[in-house]
Amino acid sequence: MTKLAIVYLSTQGNTKMMAEAIAKGAREKHIEVDIDNFYEWDPADVAKYDAICIGSSTFYYTMLEPIAKFLDELIDIGIEGKTGAAFGSYGWSGEAPVQIAERLRKAGVEVIDPVLRIQYIPNEKDLAECIRLGKDLAIHMKKKYS
Ligand SMILES: Cc1cc2nc3c(=O)[nH]c(=O)nc-3n(C[C@H](O)[C@H](O)[C@H](O)COP(=O)(O)O)c2cc1C
Repeated sequence: MTKLAIVYLSTQGNTKMMAEAIAKGAREKHIEVDIDNFYEWDPADVAKYDAICIGSSTFYYTMLEPIAKFLDELIDIGIEGKTGAAFGSYGWSGEAPVQIAERLRKAGVEVIDPVLRIQYIPNEKDLAECIRLGKDLAIHMKKKYS
């Protein structure tokens, strides 16, 4: 069965809320989803999934070093040809999700749109967008892998 890994960095829970809503959307389309904070994941395990969705909030106009390092390790293992998505909460500039999407694309991942950025705490409408992304990912995965 085709499976989705959702990996996130979230300091106050905002990006985590987005991750959970994306998972909800994918599960509603009957995709198996594993979701956790990046420090609970081993990059080698993430690399085994068909689709990889990575989220991070933005700090000092970039993503925090630990998630950048995690991405480096994941890309070194090799994730070419997989499906991906990038997301994250931000305050005023929101670079991290864009950087994640760029790095995944360079590594040969088919990153689906939109690169989802939500300002601060997601509201109901924002969470609906996250659920939509999860559903779109699931539809894409079913077409590609089954
Ligand atoms: C010290 C600090 C630096 C930040 N720097 C940025 C920044 O450069 N650009 C931006 O868009 N948001 C910035 N933010 C805002 C966070 O990205 C925002 O609060 C976000 O909702 C946190 O999400 P999280 O709970 O998932 O970590 C900063 C927040 C803090 C506390």
